[in-house]
Amino acid sequence: MAAQTDLCSLVGDIAELGSAKRLVDVGSGFSAPAAQWRSSHGSLDISCVNINFQQLLSAMKAEEKMSLLNATSTALPLSDESADRIVALESAQHFRLLEKFISKSRKVLKPNGLLIIVMPVVTQAKPFFKLGILA
Ligand SMILES: C[S@@+](CC[C@H](N)C(=O)[O-])C[C@H]1O[C@@H](n2cnc3c(N)ncnc32)[C@H](O)[C@@H]1O
Repeated sequence: MAAQTDLCSLVGDIAELGSAKRLVDVGSGFSAPAAQWRSSHGSLDISCVNINFQQLLSAMKAEEKMSLLNATSTALPLSDESADRIVALESAQHFRLLEKFISKSRKVLKPNGLLIIVMPVVTQAKPFFKLGILA
């Protein structure tokens, strides 16, 4: 749990959330990362996008101050140039097709907006899978 908190904190720094107004978290899970970013950046407007409706429902009980969107990553129901940041934290490895998500994100982001993709990667350098992050 501490590792997840640290990862969210690191991603928040990489995403420069301190200077953002609207964040879209795509593949938001149970919205724990979004809740953390909300508590560290109180004025941030956050939309959680998740293909899994049940997970969104759980988030609704826990957190009422975020927009919850039941949608897929390649058809984000968001206006063009409406977000400063789009984050896909440990979720983009599930997206088909990833390039479609990236091109849709490009449209949704404002000029100079940032897309941050953090996903597990596997190296073959060790007998056990070694996971890292790509940002
Ligand atoms: C490994 S979980 C990560 C959850 C969260 N980002 C976190 O770090 O706790 C992957 C999430 O991606 C969501 N997901 C998978 N495919 C998706 C898609 N095509 N569009 C939107 N969400 C998707 C899943 O429902 C799940 O919530």
